[in-house]
Amino acid sequence: MALTEIVFFSIFLMFTLQPSTSVEVCPVLCGTQLIRFPFRLNTQSGRCGYPRLDLSCKNEAHAILTLPFSGGFTVVNIDYTFQNIWIEDPDSCAPRRILQGLNLAGTPFDLLEPRSYTFFNCSSASSTVPKLAEAKLISCLSGKDFSVVAIPTERLDLPASLSTSCSEMAKVLLPLSLSDWSDPGDGFILTWNEPDCKLCESRAGTCMFKNDTGTDVGCSGGFNDVNKDENWVYVITEAIFNLLLRSPSIN
Ligand SMILES: *[C@@H]1O[C@H](CO)[C@@H](O)[C@H](O)[C@H]1NC(C)=O
Ligand SMILES: *[C@@H]1O[C@H](CO)[C@@H](O)[C@H](O)[C@H]1NC(C)=O
Repeated sequence: MALTEIVFFSIFLMFTLQPSTSVEVCPVLCGTQLIRFPFRLNTQSGRCGYPRLDLSCKNEAHAILTLPFSGGFTVVNIDYTFQNIWIEDPDSCAPRRILQGLNLAGTPFDLLEPRSYTFFNCSSASSTVPKLAEAKLISCLSGKDFSVVAIPTERLDLPASLSTSCSEMAKVLLPLSLSDWSDPGDGFILTWNEPDCKLCESRAGTCMFKNDTGTDVGCSGGFNDVNKDENWVYVITEAIFNLLLRSPSIN
């Protein structure tokens, strides 16, 4: 092959191995929430998002994440870089939804930093519930003459008085919430691992499907080309260009 042919072939390779331009990314707003790959709205093409990461948009104002076994939650924020999604119960009582059994089977989600809590129903007004450092009053589950509190299970060795006026309701894993459960009605955070766009997002790249049919995900643009499959083409092309620029035989 003549050098010029090598150059043209390299340029050809460079363009054909770029992520296909017909791959969709389709960012869209629902209220103020930007929804983009790997999420999509269920009204968009299936190729706008990764499988099982579809949201709906209620009244053009609130994005809703529907878990197959646990129902709908309002999306408060999506952190695309750390791959967290902050969700709330539309009725403002996330602990109730978790006590009903938060089932993440068949979803790509996990609880973020789960911690075991034991829930108690205490037959007293909230003002008289034993003050334990880490006990959280669940106001949305409490009534006039009873209070529901959640206590980290590993701290249960402490309270002698608790067992007398309180009955154990359940032991559940609670995920971290943004407010660290200072007001536990507020919602909580789930995380997802697949697809892994963290590196791409942190380099301000665009995470997208590599082609029109598969589910392999690549990264386009950003500070650094992080797509290793394509890097070698650039390395070779660059080497050839450098060689040619220094070569006296090119005219
Ligand atoms: C807590 O106990 C009271 C009776 O002591 C009951 O009426 C109430 O429904 C219970 N609350 C929960 C959330 O189980
Ligand atoms: C698209 O990518 C998948 C892998 O995700 C691969 O199996 C398939 O052959 C590719 N299709 C085309 C048309 O390149």
